[in-house]
Amino acid sequence: MNYIGSKYKLSSFIVDEITRIAVPLERAVFAELFGGTGAVARRIKTKAKEIIVNDTEAYAYALLRHYIGNTKILEAHEFIERLNALQPIEGFIFNNYCAGSGSGRNYFTDWNGKKIDVMRSAIERWKENNSLTEDMYYFLLASLIECADALANTASVYGAYLKHIKMSAAKPMVLRAALHETSRARTQVYQEDANKLIKQIKGDILYLDPPYNHRQYGANYHLLNTIALNDTFEPKGKTGLRPDYNRSAYCSRSQVADAFDHILSQADFEFIFISYNNEGLLDETALKKICNQYGSYQLIRKSYQRFRADKQNARNHIASRTEEHLHVLIKK
Ligand SMILES: C[S@@+](CC[C@H](N)C(=O)[O-])C[C@H]1O[C@@H](n2cnc3c(N)ncnc32)[C@H](O)[C@@H]1O
Repeated sequence: MNYIGSKYKLSSFIVDEITRIAVPLERAVFAELFGGTGAVARRIKTKAKEIIVNDTEAYAYALLRHYIGNTKILEAHEFIERLNALQPIEGFIFNNYCAGSGSGRNYFTDWNGKKIDVMRSAIERWKENNSLTEDMYYFLLASLIECADALANTASVYGAYLKHIKMSAAKPMVLRAALHETSRARTQVYQEDANKLIKQIKGDILYLDPPYNHRQYGANYHLLNTIALNDTFEPKGKTGLRPDYNRSAYCSRSQVADAFDHILSQADFEFIFISYNNEGLLDETALKKICNQYGSYQLIRKSYQRFRADKQNARNHIASRTEEHLHVLIKK
């Protein structure tokens, strides 16, 4: 998924540093509390003794519940075939987020909006009549979320849709099974505020990748939350936002320092790794000062190429170099 702040491309660097500095993963309880798409935890899944993952957003929970929480062999092929064979229906997504319903919004082609509707309601119905285990429910839901996201008619996030259907969004939807990897690790998956969850867990290695700017994930990915939650409401404004969404303290300049201080003070983990962009709301010196209160600190820098959508032309991406910072705190 093309996710804001995704660590997909940086995940091998991050895991290498964790492996170099912390206790061996096979003996470790590893926790990632801002899990998003699970890019880092997925690399750890087959290595750690135990993994705890978390994110406040419903779509991220569904992805993490599958990618990390599903550890046993699961055969989704038959369900995926049945979902693909369903006839499209006019449901909540078509009625509110597709142009053909007269909604005024253009997030998916009419066909794909109706396919998302029929698949999402079938997955829920199968769960309600006990045709699916919880593991399989999240396997299918994660597959649907990823597939819908790949067909979204947006430049990147769901804060706006494009006027004309772009090439990638025009493809008729064919559901593909999300990747699945078995593991012997024990897993726990949560959908909570990281600053609350930190008081309930403990372990050896903590990886934190909070938002680094004011962009709230609940607003920017509202449609993925709607697919995950399968609820109905009166969509707000031009973009069709949900009536409410989570507001993270890490997206607020006035709250971010306290949020960091709180989570680090409460953490019952010896090795703490924090990904934080050099353009973040909290500057490097301030984060270093907070970390220094709780143990020994070092900063690891990695320069990499980033791509962002070109506002003038949705098909273009602008490349720029940025520096990723991995802050390491070894707690006293
Ligand atoms: C930078 S992204 C993480 C990206 C992730 N490492 C990946 O590679 O996909 C930050 C994540 O933190 C989540 N988040 C924001 N505030 C949170 C909070 N207070 N507690 C838990 N999760 C939060 C967002 O929903 C988002 O998925």
